[in-house]
Amino acid sequence: MDLYNYTPESPFKKKHLLSLKDYSADEIYQIISLALRLKDERKKGIDHPLLKGKTLGMIFSKSSTRTRVSFEVGIQQLGGYGLFLSSADIQLGRGETIEDTAKVLSRYLDGIMIRTFDQEDVEKLAKYGSIPIINGLTDLFHPCQILADLMTIYEVKGRFKGLKLAYIGDGNNIAHSLLLGCSIVGMDISIACPKGYEPEEEIVELAQNKGLSSGSQVCITHDPIKAITGADIVYTDVWASMGQEKEAQQRIKDFANYQINAKLFDLANDQAIFLHCLPAHRGEEVTEEVIDGAQSFIFDQAENRLHAQKAVMVLLMGNNL
Ligand code: CP
Ligand code: NVA
Repeated sequence: MDLYNYTPESPFKKKHLLSLKDYSADEIYQIISLALRLKDERKKGIDHPLLKGKTLGMIFSKSSTRTRVSFEVGIQQLGGYGLFLSSADIQLGRGETIEDTAKVLSRYLDGIMIRTFDQEDVEKLAKYGSIPIINGLTDLFHPCQILADLMTIYEVKGRFKGLKLAYIGDGNNIAHSLLLGCSIVGMDISIACPKGYEPEEEIVELAQNKGLSSGSQVCITHDPIKAITGADIVYTDVWASMGQEKEAQQRIKDFANYQINAKLFDLANDQAIFLHCLPAHRGEEVTEEVIDGAQSFIFDQAENRLHAQKAVMVLLMGNNL
């Protein structure tokens, strides 16, 4: 499979990106393939006004650097316009229902990217609105991040099958989306987390089922050494996510044995790469020697948010390629 020259198995028909749950490997490959092309051509100075005149509303109930900037710049590079909507400033923050918000915004906008707490709110926007909805992170999922991660892995390794990703840390939104993404494209995934911080059972089972057909092995363990041994990609995320600030001190204690430092990283394969969705807390989940080391690809990974999301917007909001 060559994603630089990928022929789709079937036309891209998805309307939303709410999670990766219902995405096929073919759909993920189409997104990554288009992202690779847009990235390459942009660097050669070729413009892509594929969403000329279209407006993306960007609703944020949580902070963001990468998601906000990459979506805003991305839609602009595609000839469209990005409208930043802080939930604190729109009526949603004062109790206007998701239903009404979805119906009203559908009359003005061509698509919505939303970052919020409840996955259910994202699903409701899609249910009651009539325009494409893109999940820009909820407590449960972060699909845009994982598309950029898979794109980065493909750029470095040139394949997914036969690779093992080790995620050491909290069973959070990133872990959930990695479980789905890896199991769909046929990459092995081992998650090591402290007791009580496991990913949701329902999502683990879903990933295991997807793995049965893609050939991906899914392993959840409390042993970071077991997870990282033989890994080609080593991934971590903050121990306390947005909304969990009050638990931060307790989590520092609970996750003490799950830090990715040079000693642990050395147990991965020689050519292993280090990834982190960012923002990072250096000295907590990862040491500087690893995150700033030669095998870290965190800034390529962050850059690829832009390209992957442009591809997502074109496929969901565009009508011509
Ligand atoms: N990785 C990520 O989504 O970063 P931001 O929180 O800065 O958007
Ligand atoms: N798990 C983190 C990811 C940030 C991009 C959070 O939800 O805060």
